[in-house]
Amino acid sequence: MDIWSASTSGPPATIFGPYADDTIVPKPMEQALGITPKHGSQVSNSALCGSCHSILLPVFDNAGNPLVVGFIDGQKLTHSYEQTTYFEWTNSIFGTDSLLFGVCQFQKNCD
Ligand code: HEC
Repeated sequence: MDIWSASTSGPPATIFGPYADDTIVPKPMEQALGITPKHGSQVSNSALCGSCHSILLPVFDNAGNPLVVGFIDGQKLTHSYEQTTYFEWTNSIFGTDSLLFGVCQFQKNCD
């Protein structure tokens, strides 16, 4: 049986995972967190991971003014990627529209 979950897109104190409720072992999370994990179809799509693991941040100088860090097509670029994990994965040989991203990341079998 699988024990895997992520807390996303729900009210506080709810945790969702990709597996049907009758195929998981909820006791560890019930005992550790007091929360029973539930099936959530949104967790079956790796784009969910990309909603957080794609981070573009503004860059400022010490006075708090936007800092130009480069140019794109002559336009000033004042933002920098802090995290591109999801983009890197979608452009890799592993990139498919499935939960493979999660399996790869959590089981550390990305080679
Ligand atoms: C709601 C936002 C959010 C979503 C959705 C999300 N993550 Fe994360 N993830 C985070 C944050 C925040 C951290 C950093 C936690 C910390 O450092 O304590 C993190 C950390 C991680 C880490 C550890 C990175 C490291 O360097 O140790 C991995 C691996 C990871 N996430 C994979 C995933 C996968 C796979 C998915 C999709 C199944 C996913 N995340 C979905 C917010 C999110």
